[in-house]
Amino acid sequence: MQLDVVTLFPQWFEWFRDQRHVANAMAHGHELRALDPRPYTPLRGGQVDDMPFGGGAGMVLRVDVMDAALQGIYGVDPVDLRTQRRVLALTPGGRMLDDRFVEELAAEPAITLLCGRYEGFDERIVQHFASDAVSIGRYVLTGGELAAMVVCDAVLRKLPGALGHAESAVEESFSEALGGDPEYPHYTRPAEYRGWRVPEILLSGHHAEIRTWRRARSRERGASS
Ligand code: 6GU
Repeated sequence: MQLDVVTLFPQWFEWFRDQRHVANAMAHGHELRALDPRPYTPLRGGQVDDMPFGGGAGMVLRVDVMDAALQGIYGVDPVDLRTQRRVLALTPGGRMLDDRFVEELAAEPAITLLCGRYEGFDERIVQHFASDAVSIGRYVLTGGELAAMVVCDAVLRKLPGALGHAESAVEESFSEALGGDPEYPHYTRPAEYRGWRVPEILLSGHHAEIRTWRRARSRERGASS
């Protein structure tokens, strides 16, 4: 998969790219690029944002700047780009990211994530250049970068090779395998610590019963959240 993040802060992604599971995914042929729109701006002095029409605080990323940047990066009109690859605009009002959405994205060959800054994007960027608007929760971040990392992290760990064990991402919280419920609790050694015993069933070696126990705990957690 090719993951492109269009961001005014590409250096933020250097740290992200160094994380083990991200590096593993890259070693398996997946690609993560952080692309700065600023060099493509048609405006003087590297300007990329402007004051909102109608007034209000903050600055808004300009549509002409994003147009020029996407045209420069991909060599196609951004209006057509979204028919060729998934183009996600990161914005707090977008479609809420969940496991189903992540699975959908993990099946794509190429995704572009557009990060707004300050007060976000000119709405025409979302309307005309994006295939989807994505949000990671009902709260406001200063920019799309952290949200883009959340999306990339969640997507990359679904790809073969990112995690140590192929099974790790299958039966996990909110997955199809667990019927959308949170994951069951995990325990490791020591089997007893300060008098706190690990559930006996997990030490029994009865795999079928362990599965049943785990599924039940997972359901309980799902019912109470
Ligand atoms: Cl995608 N962007 C910003 N700026 N804030 C958010 C968000 C995205 N999702 C939740 N809050």
